[in-house]
Amino acid sequence: MKEKIGNNNLIYPYFVTVGKNKKEPVKNFTGIFRFSKDALLKDIEKLVILGLDKVLLFGVPASKNRDGAEAYVDGNIVAEAVRLVKTEFPRLIIFTDVCLCAYTTHGHCGILKSQAPGRKSQVKIDNKKTLEALARMAISHAEAGADWVAPSAMAKNQVAAIRAALDKNGFKNTKIMGYSAKFASSFYDPFRQAANSTPKFGDRRGYQLDYADSKQAIREISDDVREGADMVMVKPALSYLDVIAKAAGKFNRPLAAYNVSGEYEMVKVGASKGFWDEKKIVLEILSSIRRAGADFIITYHAKDVAKWAH
Ligand code: PBG
Repeated sequence: MKEKIGNNNLIYPYFVTVGKNKKEPVKNFTGIFRFSKDALLKDIEKLVILGLDKVLLFGVPASKNRDGAEAYVDGNIVAEAVRLVKTEFPRLIIFTDVCLCAYTTHGHCGILKSQAPGRKSQVKIDNKKTLEALARMAISHAEAGADWVAPSAMAKNQVAAIRAALDKNGFKNTKIMGYSAKFASSFYDPFRQAANSTPKFGDRRGYQLDYADSKQAIREISDDVREGADMVMVKPALSYLDVIAKAAGKFNRPLAAYNVSGEYEMVKVGASKGFWDEKKIVLEILSSIRRAGADFIITYHAKDVAKWAH
């Protein structure tokens, strides 16, 4: 069987920041920008013309604090962007990332129990407070018109907490894409430049998965499904095709794979040095992710793929 890569399989990630008429390049992340809302709108217009219909939004706030409040206050950057984009492009399907790492001064994905710099093992997330914050963030995005919220903080029971909060607030139709099997990976580094979300101390191994363990990944996916996820995800994609293949067809939910920033940048650097033909290698990579069993691919290559198909 041949798996096709079509525009409808692709989700394009965007970074949205404060200000006006801003399109800031990101270091070590070729062709990727942080857009202010107005500039984002212009770029999305091009994306829609290319025939893409799904985007995933990440916020890069003006200021950070210990509890990541800018993520969930009224008028937060992502909610504002969603509101604007939905008004102009009502048929565009908008996913929003629900995580605190770009909003906290320490750069961790949740609210910390006590400030404990130094030892790696001391990064302790206050799960209850984190769930409250994530739920508020998800509600603000849903209220603004997001079709899907995508919790990526890896807090325990985040999908259940968000589902309950959405239902209670009248957002039964807002769907949840769980970042279910999210590995602690070096492939996220360019993203962290874009989102300015590198942890200031410790690392994410306390709440992201160990790449040597595939059983835990499958357990995490079943947990998300049980908690009410409408779509599940494996992330990164390329070094985890085995996990994608194991998860495919097992959960009666669409499966997404996140072809992450480092995977993308390897291709870009190689292409710029003439190591390979960019179009050929991208299509081979994305086909392999589809072949492994992903229904949707979140990828920074999406616009290029859509252009090549034109
Ligand atoms: C954060 C988050 C990360 C990515 C998306 N959401 C990574 C991280 O743990 O820092 C990475 C995406 C990419 O590398 O393209 N919670």
